[in-house]
Amino acid sequence: SGYTDYQAETATIAQGVVESNHAGYTGSGFVNYDNALGSYVEFQVSAAATGPQSLTLRFANGTTIDRPMSVSVNGTASTRSFPGTGAWTTWNEVTLTATLNAGANTVRATATTANGGPNLDRLRV
Ligand code: GCU
Ligand code: CA
Ligand code: CA
Repeated sequence: SGYTDYQAETATIAQGVVESNHAGYTGSGFVNYDNALGSYVEFQVSAAATGPQSLTLRFANGTTIDRPMSVSVNGTASTRSFPGTGAWTTWNEVTLTATLNAGANTVRATATTANGGPNLDRLRV
């Protein structure tokens, strides 16, 4: 029971920068994905036991255009929509369910369009 937060700003970032200029984030900031296909944030997630878990990504998208991302868990990917949230300071959540392994797991959120990902605050597991 309970959850663990993994902040995007302390995860592994490929083609993105840590920023804190849009209010409402948790932790010390968020990741501003480069507006580039393939930009990603990768989290190392620890699980106590093998089994399904809710993975919740908190994000902002101040545009009116979806910023879809492929979310992979230990290499198994599925794509999710990250629609406009109305403002860069308005944060919403997208949740998926995935089976985690006992011990270490790799969760990567990769932009699937040239617009890049949304601004990403955290992963909650
Ligand atoms: C603006 C905004 C950034 C955002 C970017 C984008 O520059 O300030 O936080 O990441 O737009 O469109 O991706
Ligand atoms: Ca961006
Ligand atoms: Ca954060």
